[in-house]
Amino acid sequence: MTVLVLGGAGYIGSHTVDRLLSKGYDVAIVDNLVTGHKESVPAAARLYVGDVRDKEFMRSVFKKEDVEGVVHFAAFSVVPESMKDPLKYFDNNTYGMINLLEVMNEFGVKNIVFSSTAATYGEPEHTPIEEGDPQVPTNPYGQSKLMMEQIMHWADVAYGIKFVALRYFNVAGAKADGSIGEDHAPETHLIPIILQVANGQRDKLQIFGDDYPTPDGTNVRDYVQVVDLADAHICALKYLAAGNKSDAFNIGSATGFSNLQILKAARKVTGKEIPAEMAPRRPGDPSTLIAASGKARSVLGWDPQYDDIDAIIGSAWKWHESHPQGYATK
Ligand code: UFG
Repeated sequence: MTVLVLGGAGYIGSHTVDRLLSKGYDVAIVDNLVTGHKESVPAAARLYVGDVRDKEFMRSVFKKEDVEGVVHFAAFSVVPESMKDPLKYFDNNTYGMINLLEVMNEFGVKNIVFSSTAATYGEPEHTPIEEGDPQVPTNPYGQSKLMMEQIMHWADVAYGIKFVALRYFNVAGAKADGSIGEDHAPETHLIPIILQVANGQRDKLQIFGDDYPTPDGTNVRDYVQVVDLADAHICALKYLAAGNKSDAFNIGSATGFSNLQILKAARKVTGKEIPAEMAPRRPGDPSTLIAASGKARSVLGWDPQYDDIDAIIGSAWKWHESHPQGYATK
């Protein structure tokens, strides 16, 4: 029996494939390689290059593989891009989910672990955010993922396809040995951009907004290490395999760091100056996102190992120092 990882050549997907293989799972990957990197795919996993929106292609994969469960990462995830090009997000993300569920239903595959996001909550009414809190996205990316959650709910009601939606907060870091990591082009995320400045690949960091209602005026985010996040997917697969009900779980650390605090930590970890300047707010950014993640710990048995922001940034730094051009250096 095989775990089919959609988007398994991407940043979070590749770390999850690595963890699945290390725990003895048989793994097949579907990735269109638009943002994924085939260099990140280990020899032990079978890669099918194609698109989740292509039904015939997806059928061909489900015909070849004896799929026991699906882990679905194949989506666009850049908030500012989604503000400029929302239909791209509803097409790839939301329509992709409909297509996937149709094929899963045809082949009788009943379990899916889905990468959802804190962006489904929008601007929270209180922190830390609980799973039952209102989901009112402030950007099309979050809206596309909320729709995917809702579609899975009705696919469960109608076809009995069980899902776990993992609502990630801010993901960072890399595998401890620095062999796989984050490689986006263009890069938009805070920690890799800071480390590209540390590496001399960018002149300076721009901090988007210092007039938010937070202690230092910059946005506050909750960072989770990518290997810990990968392990949450394995917990979720086990939860579904045990016959449990569909549900959603926050995946975060329950601790918030402001953008300025992240910059300070990165200066300490790298020993570099890292020039920075204030810039206008970025459209679509909620002020503060902090997860209540007790549910994932108690129900899924998730036990994150990296609880320290310096260690998270340190693991990212190891990857960026050894792969300044990402996978292109290999
Ligand atoms: N930021 C900067 N300068 C930069 C890049 C980012 O100041 O050059 C700031 C952003 O404005 C934000 C914070 O750093 O305040 C974090 O931004 P990221 O782009 O790293 O991450 P986001 O919080 O926008 O997005 C992440 C995930 C999304 C997810 C979202 C939840 O990447 O997939 O969290 O809101 F949806």
